[in-house]
Amino acid sequence: MQGQEANAEAAPFPSQDLPRHIAIIMDGNGRWAQRRGLDRTVGHREGVKALKPIVKEAARLGIQVLTAYAFSTENWRRPSQEIDVLMGLLVEFLASETPELKEEGVRIRTIGDIRKLPRPAQESLAWAMAETRQEERMILNLALNYGGRDEILRAVNHWRRVTPEGSELTAEIFQQYLDTAGLPDPDLLIRSSGEFRLSNFLLWQLAYAEIYISDKLWPDFGPADLQAAIRDYQTRQRRFGGLG
Ligand code: IPE
Ligand code: IPE
Ligand code: MG
Repeated sequence: MQGQEANAEAAPFPSQDLPRHIAIIMDGNGRWAQRRGLDRTVGHREGVKALKPIVKEAARLGIQVLTAYAFSTENWRRPSQEIDVLMGLLVEFLASETPELKEEGVRIRTIGDIRKLPRPAQESLAWAMAETRQEERMILNLALNYGGRDEILRAVNHWRRVTPEGSELTAEIFQQYLDTAGLPDPDLLIRSSGEFRLSNFLLWQLAYAEIYISDKLWPDFGPADLQAAIRDYQTRQRRFGGLG
């Protein structure tokens, strides 16, 4: 595995049928730490470190959108100390990595109801988004206080507030009210740590995504693993309900 990781940069990569949008459920930080007898929060720190090389590799490969599930609407059920560490790590990540991401042409945006995040997290996000507003190589879409059900309800309620009584909601209109408005649906969903579930991620948008489950815990997931997921994706035959 070491060798594979070291070769990630040099590996030739088939560029046909590249997914436009990759969504990642970054799971397994806690188990990574627990297996080492460490506090779960150490795993989160390592998990944040693992994100940057993945973002850089995705941008290098020509991926247009990378959506990373960082904090779910259900993650508030965790101990407040763990939540505080996660929010602190978000602020640290944005402060330390935004300049380099900007240099790489990465635009930072979010999905999820970020108005409910602690004030420092909201401020860091506002700053990072403004800083990278002009970047066009790739979008890094951070899912924060994100839940697919919550997103759908917010979208429907918003539409209803601004729409005359009696109008019919269509899929096209509905999508304009989702947090992902303007983005293509994910082509590829990657989940680390071997769990086979969506955990309330992008419920509408993943309708026809190809799914790739990696056994690696998120802190161990590297650029070579991203490449392996994309290669696997390129072997899939997508049919979208038709005959392909
Ligand atoms: C993913 O790792 C990070 C977040 C959900 C914030 P976990 O914290 O879920 O790690 P495990 O699944 O307990 O190992
Ligand atoms: C999904 O992981 C959320 C994130 C990775 C941010 P969880 O660890 O919260 O999911 P469950 O609880 O195992 O389904
Ligand atoms: Mg988990």
